[in-house]
Order: sequence, then C-alpha cells, then structure tokens
Amino acid sequence: MLLGLLLLAPSAPTAGEYGVPSLRVPLERQASVRQLALEQELAARAGAHGECSASDERCVAACHFGGADETQVARCIAASCGPATLVGDLSVHLRPPAIFRFPHSVVISDYQNAQYYGTIGLGTPPKAFKVIFDTGSSNLWVPNTECGLACLLKSKYSASRSQSYAKNGTKFAIMYGSGPVSGHLSYDTVSIAGLQAKHQEFAEVDTVTGLGLAYGIGRFDGILGMAFPSISVDGISPVIQTLVAQGQLRSAVFAFYLGNNAPGELTLGGVDAAHYTGALHYVPVTSDTYWETTLHSVSFGDMSSSHLANAILDTGTSVLAGPSKAIAAIAERAGAVPILGTGEYMIDCERVPKLPNLQLTLSGATFTLSGHEYVVKTSAFGQEACLFGFLGIDVPPPRGPLWILGDVFLRKYFTVFDVEKNRMGFALAA
Ligand SMILES: *[C@@H]1O[C@H](CO)[C@@H](O)[C@H](O)[C@H]1NC(C)=O
Repeated sequence: MLLGLLLLAPSAPTAGEYGVPSLRVPLERQASVRQLALEQELAARAGAHGECSASDERCVAACHFGGADETQVARCIAASCGPATLVGDLSVHLRPPAIFRFPHSVVISDYQNAQYYGTIGLGTPPKAFKVIFDTGSSNLWVPNTECGLACLLKSKYSASRSQSYAKNGTKFAIMYGSGPVSGHLSYDTVSIAGLQAKHQEFAEVDTVTGLGLAYGIGRFDGILGMAFPSISVDGISPVIQTLVAQGQLRSAVFAFYLGNNAPGELTLGGVDAAHYTGALHYVPVTSDTYWETTLHSVSFGDMSSSHLANAILDTGTSVLAGPSKAIAAIAERAGAVPILGTGEYMIDCERVPKLPNLQLTLSGATFTLSGHEYVVKTSAFGQEACLFGFLGIDVPPPRGPLWILGDVFLRKYFTVFDVEKNRMGFALAA
C-alpha cells in the first residue's frame, strides 16, 4: 500500500518504502477534520438515527460477511450492533445477499472514493474488523486491546476472548511513511466471505504511530495484505495462501470490483461475471512480490512515452503514481497545481470536462482514463475540491521506474488477481 492522499478526505496510509508523507490535511484543518470524523463515527456506533439500523454501514457490512438474506441481516444487526461482534451461527449458515450472488464475496465499502474496506471476522466467536484489502502488501494486522487512545474508535482484538487464539508472541513491526505499526504475532481463525483460514498468523498491534492521523480518522481497523508471500514481513503466510493451503478456495483467484461512490465486491475463489463487460484481457505477473506487470507505454493527450516500466496494481493506493518527472509533465499539460511538498496536485474542477485522456498500454492492450475518471472529487465542509489523481514518486531500478495503478484505475477496470496462473485480468467494470 502506498499513500492514499486526499486533501480533505482522510486517506489510506503510506508505505514507508516510497517515503511519502502519510496525510496532507493542512495543519490548521486537522483538528476540525478529526472532530468531524470522530463525530461521524460515534454517531454511527451509537446508531444516531434512533437505533442501530440497516443504514449503519458497520453493522450491515459485518452481517454480510457470511452472506445473508434480509431477515437474517436484520437479526444479525440486532444481535451484533454495539460491540460489533458477530453471532457465531449466523455467520456460518447464511447465504450471500441477493445483490452479491457470488458464493464467496465481501462487500467493499467506499468512503468518498478514497478508502475501500470490507469486514472480516477474527477469532471464535468471530469479532468484526474493517480492513483494507490491500494488494500492495502481504500481512494481516489489526489493533489489540493494548492500543490506547490512537485506537479509541477501532475494533480491538482480545486474545483472551477467543477460543481459537494460539500464542506466538514474536515482536512484529511494519514501517509506514511516518514510523512503525508494531505489536506481536498471534494465530487465530479468520472468517472471510463464509470461508475460514484456521490458525492464521497475524499481527495484533498496539502501536500505530506510523500511520499518524490517517489512522485515527480512517474508516478501517486494520489491513489485510493480498500481495505475494515473498514480501510478507516475517515470512508469514498471507490469508489467501492459507485459504488455498486449507482447500477453502475453488481456485486460487480473487477479483475486485470497486464502486464509484457505491459499494463494490471482492470475490474469493473465482470471478463474478456480473461485474464486468467484454472479455478479460490477461497480462503476466512479472515478479512474485507485488502484483506487478510491464507497462509498455503511457500517453496523455499529445504527449507519449514508450519507455518500459513496471506497474503494480494496488487496491491500497487511491491514485495513479508514477515517476515524478513524467507526472510533472502530465500535471503541467493538464494545468494542475502542485500541493507543496507532497507530490500531489489539485486541479480546478471546471477544467475536468476538457482534460485529455490518459492511455496506458499493458501487454498489448490499451486502457483509457478520461478526466472524469482520473480526477477525484471530494467534498468536505460543503465545498467541492478536485484532486488530480496522480502522484509523483521515484523508485530506483531494478524495482523502478515504477507506476502504481491504484483505485483510480481499478474503479474503471474490474481486475482479476490469479495466483494459480500468475496473471492479472482486466475488463471494463460494470
Ligand atoms: C512465531 O512466528 C514466526 C514467524 O512465522 C516463526 O518463525 C516462529 O517459529 C513462531 N514462534 C512460535 C513460538 O510459534
């Protein structure tokens, strides 16, 4: 996972490898942004609209993770609101909700097109956690009850409350932009989309300083990494590999459909054909680290470059990131204005309809994004702002030059991550 950005919308955190600062809320606004986020979260938790209802996103997501029909969701909500803990038998018996027909799917919530997250259960009985399903990292971590103020509004893991907990105890740390997220390793059962990864090794963290403010105001409790084992900290088996090893998946494939200010879907063990049109175009994975492939050319309006570069598909990054020189040229052509010291740009919303298309060529297929698609509109405090969906980062060879195709790309293109055949497939999302 790389940054996330978003001037006013709180964002996903920044991976330390690229050294990008983790949040760009101007200092004087931090207090009020934080206040707003806290109030919203508290309101949601308390069921501010009278009682905990189907409009309470957290409860609905928690109750859908096993899949459920409406009556069951309603019962589940009644049983699980408040502590956000699932009632065991409901999570086992339920069928997928009608809108998501695929047998093993997770509803992906969308917060202002800047954060995408879904719910897993951890432990026995399962406790619900909202996680970013991150194809740009490989570890699972959630906060535990030792985490103090920084985790005030988060769901927290308590080993002593889970019958399936097993001890490891080894210290764990993962570095993000502004410091570590650290704690220790444990084993427990991960329930996800009606599947179970038993004795999954994960990190329960008590220190989240590395994520700074982004974590406090973020919608997620933890991160579930979906990249390859070779980049997993401490060589821990990622959840997908555990599911495969335990025979839980029909095939070692998962796919993301990201919503556009709407719920999306992650499927495990296959692909939901209802969420794309046309044929899937497959490209080879060129390195079993990130979900990486070769980017053959980039063009923006009348500018083009055909230097080979690596591109990674990263659900944990909000924007498109690329070499800073190339991004600066694109930004200048578009008339975007740099946000000092961040690598990010804002653009006048009125320019959006006239912006040129961005075209990316991956293994012989061209993917096109229009201005409406690569500009991220945010609104906060009643004001609309347009974030130019590009970010300059410089990653040296051999990993670089590197482009990171984040949510801006994934919203338009439904993406299949095929572990079995070591390839990725793309089609227009529908
Ligand atoms: C704890 O986990 C690490 C990393 O997977 C492993 O090397 C170690 O053997 C484990 N220790 C125990 C006591 O389970």
